[in-house]
Amino acid sequence: MKRRAFLKYVGAGAVVIGGSSIFSSWLAMGQDDALRSTYIPEQVAGFTVEETDILYLASLAPSGHNTQPWTVRVKEPGRWIIGSEQSRWLPAVDPTNRELLLSIGTFLENLTFAAGMYGYYTEIKVIARDSHNANLVEVNFIPGVLQDNLRSKIITRRTMRSTQLRNELKQADVDYLLLNKKDQIVYYPLVSEQGRYLAEGTLAANKVQALRESAQLELANWIRWSNAAAKKYRNGLTPESMELSGFARWYTKNFFNQQTVLEKSFREETIKKIEAQANNCGGWLVVTSPSQSITDIIHAGRALERVWLKAKDKNIAFHPMTQMLEESPWKDTLRQDLGLKEQIQFIIRVGYVEAYLPPVSLRMPMGSIVK
Ligand SMILES: Cc1cc2nc3c(=O)[nH]c(=O)nc-3n(C[C@H](O)[C@H](O)[C@H](O)COP(=O)(O)O)c2cc1C
Repeated sequence: MKRRAFLKYVGAGAVVIGGSSIFSSWLAMGQDDALRSTYIPEQVAGFTVEETDILYLASLAPSGHNTQPWTVRVKEPGRWIIGSEQSRWLPAVDPTNRELLLSIGTFLENLTFAAGMYGYYTEIKVIARDSHNANLVEVNFIPGVLQDNLRSKIITRRTMRSTQLRNELKQADVDYLLLNKKDQIVYYPLVSEQGRYLAEGTLAANKVQALRESAQLELANWIRWSNAAAKKYRNGLTPESMELSGFARWYTKNFFNQQTVLEKSFREETIKKIEAQANNCGGWLVVTSPSQSITDIIHAGRALERVWLKAKDKNIAFHPMTQMLEESPWKDTLRQDLGLKEQIQFIIRVGYVEAYLPPVSLRMPMGSIVK
């Protein structure tokens, strides 16, 4: 198959032909190699079993391009410094580290729930003056009472891009998700004026970004096409997390590389996929914050994660699509266009799915998070 024709086929996300012997190996291979389910959290030197578990559950948080930008340093027992590492920043799409702070927020929310399971509450103090500081937040673990066990929610949360249905979300389900968060998170059905605007804007912003060389190069650097690369880095995006399946997944694992991502046909097929996604969902969640302060952005990340952890209960998939917040003119006009007073931090495509699939994105060994 010619590469161009193949890219079309991958873009369609199709699963083809089973049964013939030439394909039986790809059906069997690689399924587990890059799956999170095979990970056994390693014990971290100097950490108790409890602390290791808290760190592991925190690390299952979502992050842009799955860079897992967080670092942890134990200042003294029960006092951790959470920071970030420059090699895991995304300067092309996130030059101000705003999205990085959102990811730190999702990490802190998981960490807080995990600590609660062991009877600690967390006192979180922002220590950074600038989002590019290596040290961002100090966390104190304070003995308290045992909180709800959210382990299974943390472990099963994932991003789901391809299988969202077009049905509008039921009001009761929106209320369940946004409980106590309605001042910070707004839901727009796809069929609403704002919902259509977000679908069209997301597609247009993706078109701009696909042609922005630095952004595409950065994306290329964070895709782990082969199983060997996935095993080596344990971060970034993989054919599994990009929801390729069957022969398409096998082919990309074996024949795609950084250069493929820069080819015109790859960019075109990506846009076709985005167009299909943006028009197939229930609607959009927009996460806001009162200001662009480090504290408020981290809070926005925490709010999103809190809501996301409930989504599986209702079979609702979450798919952050951040390009309107990264590209001009939308990043400057979006707030006004939606008629919102607050700052917009996140745009999430949401929709029902028939099956909430097991998570597949990679996670780094905890030893490489700990400084
Ligand atoms: C700040 C942030 C921005 C993100 N932006 C996008 C995006 O624009 N497109 C996308 O497909 N996924 C986006 N994601 C989802 C990540 O790719 C995903 O969380 C990561 O690959 C880990 O996968 P998981 O959520 O299944 O654990 C974003 C996530 C975060 C936290």
